[in-house]
Amino acid sequence: MHIIALANQKGGVGKTTTAASLAVGLTRQGKKVLLIDADAQGNLTQLLGWPQPDDLHPTLSTVMGKIIMDQPLTPQEGILHHTDGVDLMPANIELSAMEVTLVNTMSRETVLRQYLSTVQHDYDYAIVDCMPSLGMLTINALTAANSVIIPVQAHYLPAKGLEQLLKTVMRVKRQLNPSLEIGGILMTMVDKRTTLSRGVIDQIRAAYGGRVFRSEIPRSIRAAEISLENTSIFDHDKGGHAARAYENFTQEVLHLGIKAAQRAQREMGQPQRGKDAPVFHHGPSIPKVKGGLER
Ligand SMILES: Nc1ncnc2c1ncn2[C@@H]1O[C@H](COP(=O)(O)OP(=O)(O)OP(=O)(O)O)[C@@H](O)[C@H]1O
Ligand SMILES: [Mg+2]
Repeated sequence: MHIIALANQKGGVGKTTTAASLAVGLTRQGKKVLLIDADAQGNLTQLLGWPQPDDLHPTLSTVMGKIIMDQPLTPQEGILHHTDGVDLMPANIELSAMEVTLVNTMSRETVLRQYLSTVQHDYDYAIVDCMPSLGMLTINALTAANSVIIPVQAHYLPAKGLEQLLKTVMRVKRQLNPSLEIGGILMTMVDKRTTLSRGVIDQIRAAYGGRVFRSEIPRSIRAAEISLENTSIFDHDKGGHAARAYENFTQEVLHLGIKAAQRAQREMGQPQRGKDAPVFHHGPSIPKVKGGLER
């Protein structure tokens, strides 16, 4: 199972919309996908058609609590099934207490990883929708993940926030999860007609080169509407720009998964790190040269 975390401590950049769209995109390619709502706001849970997350039980906080208490989980405990074929581990307000509980928990960074290991044979992909913070739950998501994907709004230069996030990713990689890779930066809410949007994209591509997905998600009322309509971007925007962009993005993510599997296989057969060794392993500096960091 390939685990992808969608993270950015900035709010409203398209994490949840991308998590849902990528999950449905991968499902349409025949993959079995589990979405994890790791945000106490429960936006992903609502988007998938459960409008009152606070009425749900069990949720992510329940299963994480059981992991912490060493209690057994029943198979598929708490997992909901969406009509698009995607499964969901929902979240609600109880998850905000989990953020506090984790602080005093043994192996506090690995609770989500331990939970995901219980379902690893049931799915090809798990996609974790993080909350807009770099707190314990996001650290748990990064500790569990093989790849982190960072949605960035195209009309706001993230500068410091992005550097801080990348530093956190590198720290988790060094200290907790050596197999964590940066899947890439995804430009969202792109409005090519505005010079602001174009300017932000050019700067991000100049700074992070090969780490930015080729696909760009356009600003689209259709994308905004999927949270209200309880439908996927592929049904709601058939043949439209946003659906096409998420389709292309899904293909890029599939390719990442293949590359990660090949890398894992190579590393198992050859313990010496070769030219494809995971990046960000040595030292904290982020080279900011065009094309300098290959995904
Ligand atoms: N491509 C898009 N074009 C226009 N609006 C969008 C697009 N993608 C998402 N939105 C809208 O922007 C808002 C924020 O999106 P979303 O909830 O996906 O971001 P988020 O990063 O998950 O936010 P939070 O940090 O609060 O969890 C939502 O109202 C959503 O419907
Ligand atoms: Mg969200």
